[in-house]
Amino acid sequence: MLTLWSLLLFLVEIGYVCNLNAKFPSYIYFNSLVFADAFIGIDIGNDPSSLPSPELVVSLLKSHQITHVRLFDSDARLLSALSNTGIEVMIGVANKEVLRIAKSPSNAASWINTHVSAFKPATNITAIAVGSEFLSSNPNAGPVLVIAINNLYKALVASNLNNQINISTPLSMDMIPTPFPPSTATFNLSWNSTIHDILEFLQNTNSFYMLNAYPYDYFVRSNGIFPIQYALFQPLPEVNQIVDPNTLFHYESMLDAMVDATYYSIAAYKFSVIPIIVTETGWPWSGRANESDANMATAETFNNNLIKRVLTGSGPPSQPGILLNSYIYEMFNEDKRPNYGVFFKNGSSVYALDLGNSKGNFSGGFCVARKGADSASLQAGLNWACGQGQANCKAIQSGQPCYLPNTVENHASYAYNDYYQRKHDLGGTCDFGGTGILTNVDPSTCSLLFTRIFIMKWAILVWVETC
Ligand SMILES: *[C@@H]1O[C@H](CO)[C@@H](O)[C@H](O)[C@H]1NC(C)=O
Ligand SMILES: *[C@@H]1O[C@H](CO)[C@@H](O)[C@H](O)[C@H]1NC(C)=O
Ligand SMILES: *[C@@H]1O[C@H](CO)[C@@H](O)[C@H](O)[C@H]1NC(C)=O
Ligand SMILES: *[C@@H]1O[C@H](CO)[C@@H](O)[C@H](O)[C@H]1NC(C)=O
Ligand SMILES: *[C@@H]1O[C@H](CO)[C@@H](O)[C@H](O)[C@H]1NC(C)=O
Ligand SMILES: *[C@@H]1O[C@H](CO)[C@@H](O)[C@H](O)[C@H]1NC(C)=O
Ligand SMILES: *[C@@H]1O[C@H](CO)[C@@H](O)[C@H](O)[C@H]1NC(C)=O
Repeated sequence: MLTLWSLLLFLVEIGYVCNLNAKFPSYIYFNSLVFADAFIGIDIGNDPSSLPSPELVVSLLKSHQITHVRLFDSDARLLSALSNTGIEVMIGVANKEVLRIAKSPSNAASWINTHVSAFKPATNITAIAVGSEFLSSNPNAGPVLVIAINNLYKALVASNLNNQINISTPLSMDMIPTPFPPSTATFNLSWNSTIHDILEFLQNTNSFYMLNAYPYDYFVRSNGIFPIQYALFQPLPEVNQIVDPNTLFHYESMLDAMVDATYYSIAAYKFSVIPIIVTETGWPWSGRANESDANMATAETFNNNLIKRVLTGSGPPSQPGILLNSYIYEMFNEDKRPNYGVFFKNGSSVYALDLGNSKGNFSGGFCVARKGADSASLQAGLNWACGQGQANCKAIQSGQPCYLPNTVENHASYAYNDYYQRKHDLGGTCDFGGTGILTNVDPSTCSLLFTRIFIMKWAILVWVETC
C-alpha cells in the first residue's frame, strides 16, 4: 500500500501575497502563545537482558540531566532506584495485561496498588501508558482497551492519585492512514468508536494523547519522495519547503507534520484541544544492508536536532502554543526495534548526544505574556507598551490582522514582543511588572511570493520559493 507511491499527478501553481512584515513576528496563528517547560524524555525498554543494573540506569539519567523517563513496564527495582531523584516517570501496562485489567475493577485496583501506590510519593510516577500500540496489534479489542483505561482511572480515584497521574494509551501513526497533508488527516474509521471513547476519556480527565511517531519509517517507505533533510529537522535543500496547501503552514520537519496530522484527526471529533506528547520517536544507527540511512551520523543528527526542536518551546504549526514534548526511543538497544539505543549497556554513549540541560533554555529572543498572569496586570503592561513604550500596536486594533483572538493575553504578547524587538538593544527588558517572559518560540511566518504545488497520490508537497 504505502509502497505504491505514484509520482506527480499534476502540478498547480498559486501566488500568495507578501503581506507580513517578516522582521517582526506575527501572531495571527498564535492563539495561545504562552510559556511552559519543554522537555525531552527517554524510553527505557523492559527486556532484562538489554538493561544494565537499575543503579547504573539511574546514574546515567542523572549524569545526563534527563528529567523524564518512560518505562515500558513497571519494573519494581527500577522504580525503587528512581525514588527521590525528582525524575518524572511514565510507567506502562503491558499489552498482555490489558485484558485482565479490563475484566474486573479489582484487578485494576490491585495493579495500581502493586505498581503505583507502593512507589508513591518517593518515585514521581506522573503517567500510566495503557498498552503499547495496543490497537495496532489488537485491532478488534478497542472496547477492551477502553474498559481497562476506565478501570485503572477509577482505581486511581479510589487511591486519591488521579490528580497526580495521567492515564492514556500510546498509539502509533497506523491510526491515521494518510497523514500527509496534515490538514486532511483523519483516524481510520474502523476504530471510530474506540478513538471517540479514548478522546472523551482524555478530555474528561485532562490527560494527553500519547503518540508514537517515527519519521524514519515514513522516510524509508516514501522511496525518496521526501528529502532526508525533512526527516532530520535540517533545512530543506535550496529554498524549497514543504507546505500544506490547505493551511499554507510550512512544515520544517516530518515530525511536526505527523503531530499536526494527529491534531487535525483529533479535531474532527469536536473535543477541545487535547495536548499530544510524543511517547516514542527515534532513529536507528544501524540496519540491514538495504537500510543505508540507518547509520550513526543520521541517528546522531536526528536525535540532536529533535532535542533542539523540542527545546525551542514552540508546538507544531497548527498548535504553536502546545509544546512538542517528546521521548526518545530509546535508552538501550532492544530487539523490538533494533539499534535505536543511545547508550551501550556499559553506559557509554553510542554517539554524542546533547541531552544535558534537557529542560528548555528560554533565554531566547521573543517576549510574550506569562501564562497565568492576571489580566489587570497584563492590561497595565499592554497599556504601557503601546503608550510610553512606543510599541506599534496597530495590528491588534479591531479589524486588524492580529486582533483575534481578542484577549488581553494575546494583545499583551503582541505588544510586549513588538516593544522588546524595538527596544532591547537600547536596554528595554521583557518585564512588564513580572507579566512578560522570554521564549525561543519564533512565531514569525515567512512570506511567500510564489508557490508551486506538486500533488501526489498520498502526499502533497509544496516547493516554495521564499521572498
Ligand atoms: C513530580 O512531578 C510533578 C510534575 O512535574 C511535580 O509537580 C512534582 O513536584 C514532582 N514531585 C516530586 C516529589 O518531585
Ligand atoms: C496531565 O496532563 C495534563 C495535560 O497535558 C497536564 O497539564 C498535567 O500537568 C499532567 N499532570 C501530571 C501530573 O503530569
Ligand atoms: C483501517 O483499519 C482496518 C483494521 O485494522 C484495516 O483493515 C484497514 O486496511 C485500515 N484502513 C486503511 C485505509 O488503512
Ligand atoms: C463515530 O462515532 C461517533 C460516536 O460513537 C458517532 O457519533 C459517529 O457517528 C461515528 N462516525 C462515523 C462516521 O461512523
Ligand atoms: C530490507 O529488506 C528486508 C528483507 O530482506 C525487508 O523486509 C525490509 O522491508 C527492507 N527494508 C527497506 C527499507 O526496504
Ligand atoms: C561499551 O560497549 C561498547 C559496545 O559493546 C564498546 O564499543 C565500548 O568500547 C564500551 N565502552 C567502554 C568504556 O568499555
Ligand atoms: C541559555 O542559552 C544562552 C545562549 O545560548 C546561554 O548563554 C545561557 O547560559 C543558557 N542558560 C542556561 C540556564 O543554560
